[in-house]
Amino acid sequence: MEAYTSYKNALKNIPKPCLFLDMDMFHTNIQNIISASNNKNIRIASKSIRSVPILKEILNVSSTFQGIMCYAADEAIYLNDNGLDDLLIAYPVWNPEHLKAIASRVMNKQTITVMVDSIEHINHLEMIAAENNQKFLVCLDIDLSSEYPGLHFGVHRSPVKTVSQVVALINRIDDSPYMKLDGIMGYEAQIAGVTDNNPKQRLKNKVVRFLKNHSSKVLIKKRQEIIDVIHQKQIDLRFINGGGTGSLHQTAKENVTEITVGSGFFNSRLFDFYKDYSNLPALAYAIEITRIPKKHMYTCTGGGYIASGAMGEDRMPHIYLPEGACLTANEGAGEVQTPIYYDGDIPLKHGDPIFLRHSKAGELCEHFHHIHLIKDDKIIDAYKTYRGDYQCFL
Ligand SMILES: Cc1ncc(COP(=O)(O)O)c(C=O)c1O
Repeated sequence: MEAYTSYKNALKNIPKPCLFLDMDMFHTNIQNIISASNNKNIRIASKSIRSVPILKEILNVSSTFQGIMCYAADEAIYLNDNGLDDLLIAYPVWNPEHLKAIASRVMNKQTITVMVDSIEHINHLEMIAAENNQKFLVCLDIDLSSEYPGLHFGVHRSPVKTVSQVVALINRIDDSPYMKLDGIMGYEAQIAGVTDNNPKQRLKNKVVRFLKNHSSKVLIKKRQEIIDVIHQKQIDLRFINGGGTGSLHQTAKENVTEITVGSGFFNSRLFDFYKDYSNLPALAYAIEITRIPKKHMYTCTGGGYIASGAMGEDRMPHIYLPEGACLTANEGAGEVQTPIYYDGDIPLKHGDPIFLRHSKAGELCEHFHHIHLIKDDKIIDAYKTYRGDYQCFL
């Protein structure tokens, strides 16, 4: 059956807007990620999933999947309460109550690791641990961005940019009775998170590929130098983390022990535009035609789920099915209504669905309580999102 009709039939009794996951595509994506992992562990980026049962489903497929990369302290605590362990909080936490709660779980033999990138972070953790007679597991975030004249190629996160800075911080952590260095992380966002195969930006693609190529050479060398220093100092790390969905093919060949992958499981729209990576569009949402203001124009209820990041057309939802349908330039995807232009072969009427994809993977789950699972043209289950669990972390 053709995809539009198949999803329409499967979702006919589900109130719209609704979110759904094509389980065949989802499991194909999981297998593709395993194949690309080069036998390294994959840590799942929860921000790109935001559903406990989905995280568990991925973990259950293969021992390749080890641990979760969380985005907030209270999220890590919530996941730990739901039976998950080996939780790396990828972004520094400052809130003392959250930090105390995490350290007390570490004292209870849970593996929850917090991120540091400076003396300020280390001093802060030490103060909290000393007051409460606790200990932290820490990970050092190393900046892997590249600097070119007039261009910062990468993200602005960690101030740790040189091998000597790494050594100074590792020594400081090593000297502290209040923390153990559990791992190091270097996220090459300019490789993993920047598209380089967008059909609307052919010239830009060439420039980005050139920059990616150059930046990769520099960062691979830097990461190896850091790993060598750590080995020379005979520091035993539990993990060396790198990468993201868009750099999996490359980071998996490096001397890391694990690669983080999140977006690749649902494979949101931005990930259609990578030269060296492709997966299937597993997650999408449906909105319903409630008005037909004129021929070829179908206005639906809801739809305007805009993605975070530097604003541009690529942050807008994309009309997935029926093929050829598009948003209008004047209204885009609206807060409560979305007009859609379509003059294709499929006859559309009031109550029919239009299917869209979000630019980013996990953010969409903040708008829905459930993800409906579709297999063999039928709904087989509904998994709760974080929102469905009444959880909101950021
Ligand atoms: C630290 C870190 N690692 C990895 C990733 C990759 O996540 P994804 O695979 O969802 O692109 C991100 C995304 O922003 C990140 O912040």
